[in-house]
Amino acid sequence: MKPGYSLMRHYLQFKDFRAEEYAYLFERARVIKQRFKNYEKYQPLTDRTLAMIFEKASTRTRVSFEAGMYQMGGSVVHLTTGDSQLGRSEPIEDSARVISRMVDLVMIRTFEQSKIERFAAHSRVPVINGLTNEFHPCQILADLLTYLEHRAPVNASGYDLNCLKGKVVAWVGDGNNMANTWLQAAEILGFTVHVSTPSGYEVDPAVAGVRDIGCYKVFKNPLDACRGAHLVTTDVWTSMGYEAENAERLKAFADWCVDAEMMAAAQPDALFMHCLPAHRGEEVTADVIDGPQSVVWDEAENRMHVQKALMEYLLLGRIG
Ligand code: CP
Ligand code: NVA
Repeated sequence: MKPGYSLMRHYLQFKDFRAEEYAYLFERARVIKQRFKNYEKYQPLTDRTLAMIFEKASTRTRVSFEAGMYQMGGSVVHLTTGDSQLGRSEPIEDSARVISRMVDLVMIRTFEQSKIERFAAHSRVPVINGLTNEFHPCQILADLLTYLEHRAPVNASGYDLNCLKGKVVAWVGDGNNMANTWLQAAEILGFTVHVSTPSGYEVDPAVAGVRDIGCYKVFKNPLDACRGAHLVTTDVWTSMGYEAENAERLKAFADWCVDAEMMAAAQPDALFMHCLPAHRGEEVTADVIDGPQSVVWDEAENRMHVQKALMEYLLLGRIG
Protein backbone atom coordinates (compact mmCIF):
# COMPACT_ATOMS: atom_id res chain seq x y z
CA MET A 1 0.00 0.00 0.00
CA LYS A 2 1.36 3.43 -0.91
CA PRO A 3 2.14 6.07 1.73
CA GLY A 4 -0.92 8.15 2.43
CA TYR A 5 -3.42 5.30 2.28
CA SER A 6 -4.78 4.37 5.66
CA LEU A 7 -7.77 2.42 4.44
CA MET A 8 -8.37 1.82 0.78
CA ARG A 9 -11.92 2.49 -0.33
CA HIS A 10 -13.71 1.78 -3.59
CA TYR A 11 -16.74 3.63 -4.93
CA LEU A 12 -18.78 0.95 -6.70
CA GLN A 13 -22.29 1.82 -5.52
CA PHE A 14 -23.89 4.87 -3.96
CA LYS A 15 -24.34 2.98 -0.72
CA ASP A 16 -20.57 2.57 -0.34
CA PHE A 17 -20.55 5.94 1.49
CA ARG A 18 -22.50 7.16 4.52
CA ALA A 19 -24.63 10.30 4.72
CA GLU A 20 -21.97 12.24 6.60
CA GLU A 21 -19.39 11.34 3.97
CA TYR A 22 -21.72 12.76 1.33
CA ALA A 23 -22.05 15.97 3.35
CA TYR A 24 -18.23 16.19 3.30
CA LEU A 25 -17.97 15.39 -0.42
CA PHE A 26 -20.59 17.95 -1.48
CA GLU A 27 -18.82 20.62 0.55
CA ARG A 28 -15.47 19.72 -1.01
CA ALA A 29 -17.10 19.80 -4.46
CA ARG A 30 -18.45 23.29 -3.68
CA VAL A 31 -14.99 24.53 -2.65
CA ILE A 32 -13.23 22.85 -5.58
CA LYS A 33 -15.78 24.24 -8.04
CA GLN A 34 -15.40 27.76 -6.63
CA ARG A 35 -11.61 27.56 -7.03
CA PHE A 36 -12.04 26.41 -10.63
CA LYS A 37 -14.42 29.29 -11.36
CA ASN A 38 -11.89 31.71 -9.87
CA TYR A 39 -9.07 30.24 -12.05
CA GLU A 40 -7.19 29.22 -8.88
CA LYS A 41 -4.73 26.38 -9.40
CA TYR A 42 -5.41 23.42 -7.11
CA GLN A 43 -3.16 20.43 -7.78
CA PRO A 44 -3.24 17.99 -4.86
CA LEU A 45 -2.92 14.98 -7.19
CA THR A 46 0.41 15.85 -8.80
CA ASP A 47 2.15 12.67 -9.99
CA ARG A 48 -0.99 10.59 -9.47
CA THR A 49 -2.39 8.62 -12.40
CA LEU A 50 -5.97 7.62 -13.13
CA ALA A 51 -6.66 4.69 -15.46
CA MET A 52 -10.02 5.02 -17.21
CA ILE A 53 -11.40 1.79 -18.68
CA PHE A 54 -14.35 2.09 -21.03
CA GLU A 55 -16.25 -0.96 -22.25
CA LYS A 56 -19.13 1.31 -23.32
CA ALA A 57 -19.25 4.71 -25.06
CA SER A 58 -18.99 7.97 -23.13
CA THR A 59 -18.77 11.71 -23.54
CA ARG A 60 -19.41 13.25 -20.09
CA THR A 61 -17.72 10.56 -18.00
CA ARG A 62 -14.57 10.61 -20.06
CA VAL A 63 -14.25 14.38 -20.31
CA SER A 64 -15.14 15.02 -16.66
CA PHE A 65 -12.67 12.48 -15.25
CA GLU A 66 -9.91 13.33 -17.70
CA ALA A 67 -10.19 17.13 -17.41
CA GLY A 68 -10.69 16.84 -13.65
CA MET A 69 -7.60 14.71 -13.15
CA TYR A 70 -5.39 17.03 -15.23
CA GLN A 71 -6.72 20.08 -13.40
CA MET A 72 -5.75 18.44 -10.10
CA GLY A 73 -2.19 17.95 -11.35
CA GLY A 74 -2.44 14.27 -12.26
CA SER A 75 -2.54 12.37 -15.51
CA VAL A 76 -4.77 9.76 -17.12
CA VAL A 77 -4.49 6.57 -19.14
CA HIS A 78 -7.47 5.82 -21.35
CA LEU A 79 -8.26 2.19 -22.22
CA THR A 80 -11.13 0.68 -24.16
CA THR A 81 -12.11 -2.92 -24.76
CA GLY A 82 -11.13 -2.60 -28.42
CA ASP A 83 -7.62 -1.31 -27.87
CA SER A 84 -6.58 -3.38 -24.85
CA GLN A 85 -6.29 -7.05 -23.93
CA LEU A 86 -9.66 -6.73 -22.18
CA GLY A 87 -11.20 -7.23 -25.60
CA ARG A 88 -9.13 -10.38 -26.13
CA SER A 89 -10.37 -12.22 -23.04
CA GLU A 90 -7.65 -11.39 -20.56
CA PRO A 91 -9.31 -12.20 -17.23
CA ILE A 92 -10.59 -9.11 -15.44
CA GLU A 93 -8.73 -10.24 -12.29
CA ASP A 94 -5.40 -10.26 -14.16
CA SER A 95 -6.15 -6.87 -15.70
CA ALA A 96 -6.86 -5.51 -12.22
CA ARG A 97 -3.63 -6.92 -10.77
CA VAL A 98 -1.54 -5.41 -13.58
CA ILE A 99 -3.22 -2.02 -14.05
CA SER A 100 -3.38 -1.33 -10.33
CA ARG A 101 0.38 -1.83 -9.96
CA MET A 102 1.00 1.11 -12.28
CA VAL A 103 -1.64 3.70 -11.43
CA ASP A 104 -3.13 5.24 -8.30
CA LEU A 105 -6.82 5.10 -9.16
CA VAL A 106 -9.06 3.28 -11.65
CA MET A 107 -12.41 4.31 -13.12
CA ILE A 108 -14.35 1.64 -15.01
CA ARG A 109 -17.44 1.77 -17.22
CA THR A 110 -18.61 -1.75 -17.98
CA PHE A 111 -21.56 -4.12 -18.18
CA GLU A 112 -22.37 -6.29 -15.14
CA GLN A 113 -21.75 -4.89 -11.66
CA SER A 114 -20.13 -8.24 -10.82
CA LYS A 115 -17.36 -7.39 -13.29
CA ILE A 116 -16.35 -4.17 -11.53
CA GLU A 117 -16.58 -5.96 -8.20
CA ARG A 118 -14.19 -8.65 -9.44
CA PHE A 119 -11.82 -5.96 -10.67
CA ALA A 120 -11.97 -4.14 -7.34
CA ALA A 121 -11.37 -7.34 -5.39
CA HIS A 122 -8.04 -7.73 -7.20
CA SER A 123 -7.02 -4.07 -7.33
CA ARG A 124 -4.33 -2.49 -5.15
CA VAL A 125 -5.86 0.95 -5.68
CA PRO A 126 -9.35 2.49 -5.34
CA VAL A 127 -11.83 1.70 -8.09
CA ILE A 128 -14.67 4.03 -9.16
CA ASN A 129 -17.84 2.94 -10.95
CA GLY A 130 -18.21 5.05 -14.10
CA LEU A 131 -21.47 3.20 -14.95
CA THR A 132 -22.52 -0.41 -14.95
CA ASN A 133 -25.75 -2.06 -16.04
CA GLU A 134 -26.96 -1.77 -12.44
CA PHE A 135 -25.59 1.54 -11.12
CA HIS A 136 -24.31 5.02 -12.03
CA PRO A 137 -23.24 6.50 -8.68
CA CYS A 138 -21.08 9.34 -10.08
CA GLN A 139 -24.09 10.66 -11.97
CA ILE A 140 -26.27 10.75 -8.87
CA LEU A 141 -23.43 12.52 -7.04
CA ALA A 142 -23.59 15.23 -9.71
CA ASP A 143 -27.39 15.31 -9.67
CA LEU A 144 -27.51 15.80 -5.92
CA LEU A 145 -24.82 18.48 -6.02
CA THR A 146 -26.90 20.24 -8.66
CA TYR A 147 -30.06 19.98 -6.57
CA LEU A 148 -28.21 21.34 -3.52
CA GLU A 149 -26.77 24.24 -5.51
CA HIS A 150 -30.20 25.25 -6.66
CA ARG A 151 -32.21 24.52 -3.52
CA ALA A 152 -30.11 24.08 -0.37
CA PRO A 153 -28.99 26.65 2.17
CA VAL A 154 -25.23 26.73 2.81
CA ASN A 155 -24.34 26.81 6.49
CA ALA A 156 -20.96 26.93 8.25
CA SER A 157 -20.17 23.30 7.41
CA GLY A 158 -21.50 23.41 3.85
CA TYR A 159 -24.77 22.39 2.20
CA ASP A 160 -27.48 21.42 4.63
CA LEU A 161 -28.34 17.88 3.54
CA ASN A 162 -31.34 17.92 5.86
CA CYS A 163 -33.09 19.86 3.14
CA LEU A 164 -33.29 16.58 1.18
CA LYS A 165 -35.35 14.88 3.87
CA GLY A 166 -38.97 14.44 2.86
CA LYS A 167 -38.38 15.61 -0.70
CA VAL A 168 -39.85 13.71 -3.65
CA VAL A 169 -37.91 12.75 -6.77
CA ALA A 170 -40.10 11.53 -9.64
CA TRP A 171 -38.45 8.89 -11.79
CA VAL A 172 -40.22 8.46 -15.14
CA GLY A 173 -38.95 5.69 -17.40
CA ASP A 174 -36.79 2.60 -17.27
CA GLY A 175 -36.04 0.83 -13.98
CA ASN A 176 -32.37 0.99 -14.92
CA ASN A 177 -28.94 1.86 -13.47
CA MET A 178 -29.98 5.45 -12.82
CA ALA A 179 -33.25 4.45 -11.13
CA ASN A 180 -31.45 1.91 -8.91
CA THR A 181 -28.92 4.51 -7.85
CA TRP A 182 -31.63 7.07 -7.05
CA LEU A 183 -33.18 4.45 -4.75
CA GLN A 184 -29.91 3.94 -2.90
CA ALA A 185 -29.48 7.70 -2.53
CA ALA A 186 -33.03 8.05 -1.20
CA GLU A 187 -32.42 5.38 1.42
CA ILE A 188 -29.22 7.05 2.63
CA LEU A 189 -30.27 10.70 2.44
CA GLY A 190 -33.93 10.47 3.47
CA PHE A 191 -35.98 11.41 0.43
CA THR A 192 -38.55 9.38 -1.52
CA VAL A 193 -38.49 8.33 -5.17
CA HIS A 194 -41.80 8.12 -7.02
CA VAL A 195 -41.09 5.53 -9.67
CA SER A 196 -43.18 5.03 -12.79
CA THR A 197 -42.00 2.52 -15.37
CA PRO A 198 -43.79 0.59 -18.10
CA SER A 199 -44.85 -2.90 -17.12
CA GLY A 200 -41.90 -5.28 -17.42
CA TYR A 201 -39.32 -2.54 -16.74
CA GLU A 202 -39.88 -2.08 -12.98
CA VAL A 203 -37.11 -1.50 -10.47
CA ASP A 204 -36.15 -4.55 -8.48
CA PRO A 205 -35.22 -3.65 -4.87
CA ALA A 206 -32.95 -6.71 -4.70
CA VAL A 207 -30.96 -5.48 -7.70
CA ALA A 208 -31.04 -1.89 -6.46
CA GLY A 209 -29.71 -3.15 -3.14
CA VAL A 210 -32.12 -1.19 -0.95
CA ARG A 211 -33.31 -2.60 2.34
CA ASP A 212 -35.99 -0.01 3.06
CA ILE A 213 -38.63 -0.32 0.36
CA GLY A 214 -40.21 2.75 2.00
CA CYS A 215 -37.65 4.87 0.13
CA TYR A 216 -39.72 4.54 -3.06
CA LYS A 217 -43.32 4.33 -4.22
CA VAL A 218 -44.51 2.82 -7.46
CA PHE A 219 -47.01 4.57 -9.77
CA LYS A 220 -48.62 3.04 -12.87
CA ASN A 221 -49.27 6.44 -14.38
CA PRO A 222 -46.19 8.69 -14.83
CA LEU A 223 -48.31 11.81 -14.31
CA ASP A 224 -49.23 10.57 -10.83
CA ALA A 225 -45.56 9.96 -10.03
CA CYS A 226 -44.83 13.61 -10.83
CA ARG A 227 -47.55 15.06 -8.60
CA GLY A 228 -45.95 17.27 -5.95
CA ALA A 229 -42.40 16.22 -6.91
CA HIS A 230 -39.49 18.54 -6.15
CA LEU A 231 -37.41 17.04 -8.93
CA VAL A 232 -38.54 15.23 -12.09
CA THR A 233 -35.99 13.07 -13.85
CA THR A 234 -35.77 10.50 -16.60
CA ASP A 235 -33.28 8.69 -18.82
CA VAL A 236 -33.04 7.06 -22.24
CA TRP A 237 -35.56 4.32 -23.02
CA THR A 238 -32.75 2.03 -24.17
CA SER A 239 -29.58 1.96 -22.12
CA MET A 240 -26.23 0.89 -23.51
CA GLY A 241 -26.05 -2.87 -23.77
CA TYR A 242 -29.80 -3.23 -24.44
CA GLU A 243 -29.84 -2.01 -28.05
CA ALA A 244 -31.34 -5.29 -29.34
CA GLU A 245 -34.54 -4.41 -27.42
CA ASN A 246 -34.83 -0.96 -28.98
CA ALA A 247 -37.89 -1.60 -31.17
CA GLU A 248 -39.96 -3.16 -28.40
CA ARG A 249 -38.87 -0.49 -25.94
CA LEU A 250 -39.96 2.28 -28.32
CA LYS A 251 -43.50 0.85 -28.11
CA ALA A 252 -43.49 0.07 -24.39
CA PHE A 253 -42.18 3.48 -23.30
CA ALA A 254 -44.33 5.68 -25.56
CA ASP A 255 -46.30 7.12 -22.60
CA TRP A 256 -43.21 7.65 -20.43
CA CYS A 257 -42.18 10.96 -21.97
CA VAL A 258 -41.69 13.83 -19.51
CA ASP A 259 -43.75 16.70 -20.89
CA ALA A 260 -45.15 20.06 -19.79
CA GLU A 261 -48.20 18.41 -18.23
CA MET A 262 -46.00 16.26 -15.97
CA MET A 263 -43.88 19.27 -15.00
CA ALA A 264 -47.06 21.22 -14.22
CA ALA A 265 -48.18 18.42 -11.88
CA ALA A 266 -44.91 18.71 -9.93
CA GLN A 267 -44.07 21.50 -7.45
CA PRO A 268 -44.13 24.93 -9.12
CA ASP A 269 -40.36 25.23 -8.59
CA ALA A 270 -39.56 21.60 -9.47
CA LEU A 271 -36.29 21.01 -11.30
CA PHE A 272 -35.89 18.75 -14.33
CA MET A 273 -32.80 16.56 -14.67
CA HIS A 274 -31.52 14.07 -17.23
CA CYS A 275 -28.11 12.42 -17.06
CA LEU A 276 -27.74 12.81 -20.85
CA PRO A 277 -27.42 11.91 -23.66
CA ALA A 278 -31.10 12.78 -24.28
CA HIS A 279 -33.50 11.95 -27.07
CA ARG A 280 -35.90 14.85 -27.44
CA GLY A 281 -39.34 13.55 -28.38
CA GLU A 282 -38.73 10.19 -26.70
CA GLU A 283 -38.15 10.27 -22.91
CA VAL A 284 -38.52 14.08 -22.72
CA THR A 285 -40.05 16.80 -24.85
CA ALA A 286 -37.82 19.57 -26.16
CA ASP A 287 -39.81 22.26 -24.30
CA VAL A 288 -39.05 20.55 -20.96
CA ILE A 289 -35.36 19.75 -21.43
CA ASP A 290 -34.70 23.14 -23.04
CA GLY A 291 -37.11 24.96 -20.71
CA PRO A 292 -36.63 27.09 -17.58
CA GLN A 293 -36.94 24.24 -15.05
CA SER A 294 -34.23 22.16 -16.69
CA VAL A 295 -30.79 22.14 -15.04
CA VAL A 296 -29.23 19.51 -17.30
CA TRP A 297 -26.17 21.58 -18.24
CA ASP A 298 -25.31 22.33 -14.61
CA GLU A 299 -25.81 18.63 -13.96
CA ALA A 300 -23.34 17.67 -16.70
CA GLU A 301 -20.74 20.23 -15.55
CA ASN A 302 -21.06 19.09 -11.95
CA ARG A 303 -19.86 15.64 -12.93
CA MET A 304 -16.38 17.11 -13.08
CA HIS A 305 -16.48 19.09 -9.84
CA VAL A 306 -17.93 16.33 -7.70
CA GLN A 307 -15.66 13.66 -9.19
CA LYS A 308 -12.65 15.85 -8.39
CA ALA A 309 -13.85 15.82 -4.78
CA LEU A 310 -14.36 12.05 -5.00
CA MET A 311 -10.86 11.40 -6.39
CA GLU A 312 -9.32 13.67 -3.76
CA TYR A 313 -11.22 11.81 -1.04
CA LEU A 314 -10.25 8.34 -2.26
CA LEU A 315 -6.58 9.26 -2.67
CA LEU A 316 -5.91 11.74 0.13
CA GLY A 317 -8.74 11.25 2.60
CA ARG A 318 -10.24 14.26 4.32
CA ILE A 319 -8.53 17.59 3.75
CA GLY A 320 -8.11 19.87 6.73
N1 CP B 1 -24.26 10.85 -18.21
C1 CP B 1 -23.20 10.16 -18.66
O1 CP B 1 -22.65 9.29 -17.96
O2 CP B 1 -22.82 10.51 -19.90
P1 CP B 1 -21.77 9.76 -20.82
O3 CP B 1 -22.40 8.44 -21.23
O4 CP B 1 -21.57 10.68 -21.99
O5 CP B 1 -20.51 9.53 -20.05
N1 NVA C 1 -28.96 4.49 -18.50
C1 NVA C 1 -28.03 4.99 -19.47
C2 NVA C 1 -27.20 6.07 -18.87
C3 NVA C 1 -26.20 6.70 -19.80
C4 NVA C 1 -25.34 7.72 -19.15
C5 NVA C 1 -27.17 3.86 -19.98
O1 NVA C 1 -26.79 3.00 -19.18
O2 NVA C 1 -26.88 3.81 -21.17
